[in-house]
Amino acid sequence: MGRMSTPQSGILALGTASHAYLEFDVGSGEDGRDLVGAIAALREPRTTMGGVNLVAGFRPELWRQVAPDDTPGDAAGFNEDLTGVDGFAMPATQHDAVLWLSGSAYDVIFDAARDAIAALAGIAAVAEETSSWPYRHDRDLTGFIDGTENPSLIDAPEIALIPDGSPGAGGTILLLQKWAHDAVAWESLPVARQEEVMGRTKLDSVELADKASDSHVASTDQERFGEIFRRNMPYGTVTDHGTMFVGFSSEQRRLSAMLESMAGLAGGARDALTRYTRPFTGAYYFVPSTDSLRRIDPAGSEAG
Ligand code: HEM
Repeated sequence: MGRMSTPQSGILALGTASHAYLEFDVGSGEDGRDLVGAIAALREPRTTMGGVNLVAGFRPELWRQVAPDDTPGDAAGFNEDLTGVDGFAMPATQHDAVLWLSGSAYDVIFDAARDAIAALAGIAAVAEETSSWPYRHDRDLTGFIDGTENPSLIDAPEIALIPDGSPGAGGTILLLQKWAHDAVAWESLPVARQEEVMGRTKLDSVELADKASDSHVASTDQERFGEIFRRNMPYGTVTDHGTMFVGFSSEQRRLSAMLESMAGLAGGARDALTRYTRPFTGAYYFVPSTDSLRRIDPAGSEAG
């Protein structure tokens, strides 16, 4: 049997040069269900407008309020800081909803983002905004190729999407986490040491045969934690920049287990990469299928 639920297509739309991530909080005195309704309403006509991909996600507890039977049972927000070993922590900065816009150039993203913000005004406001752009085709701002062990687009749906027949079918769990790089400390390392930290070579991303157990790729080993689909992007300015981690999985546990491992809580050492990069946001969003969004009426209740 083929898949019946249609995912939000921007999740899988590769090759876009410009990105914006807008995280929203519901205003005091407003009802979160109205935000779900307003986002469901704004998606449809705009999904392909001006060549902009629009992906919408919701704080899992908020989506559950609106569509309890269409939410994975264990989906939950990033509601508490993740405290790792030797004082390392990943802050919880959960918001109510996220819009991820991607397209060919920043001008169309800019206009579409402003339209979306205007359409949601009165219910919710932007709490966190990040814009992103590719660096040297497929590298992150450490200079390493990011995405080598990502599944191909053939395999990504199987890995990222909740299967038909399960609550939330065609949806996915998104971990959005903004990591600032300590560029001075990182760039003072010899390339051979950077490669030990990552567990892969810098020029061509070959996995090291004798990679250290605290290397980043050992800390996030997908054979151990399960596979995920990453759409990471560089963000920031020349003086203040890093990696927007954008990871999708059909099971939230894969993502949270990787974070615990990176923080040194999975029986191994803390990920060496966390000595040169620091997360300062962290949120999980449920990204429903387009079918699920279509079932939401603008008043924010599930039409059935
Ligand atoms: C500053 C933040 C981060 C940077 C710069 C970064 C960069 C990289 C790089 C360069 C690789 C090796 C090439 C590849 O396979 O893509 C990699 C692998 C990977 N990263 Fe990250 N990453 C970051 C954060 C994270 C986080 C927060 C997670 C999980 C929640 C994660 C999950 C993975 C996974 C699953 C792999 C592949 C591991 C395998 O070989 O099975 N990364 N990352």
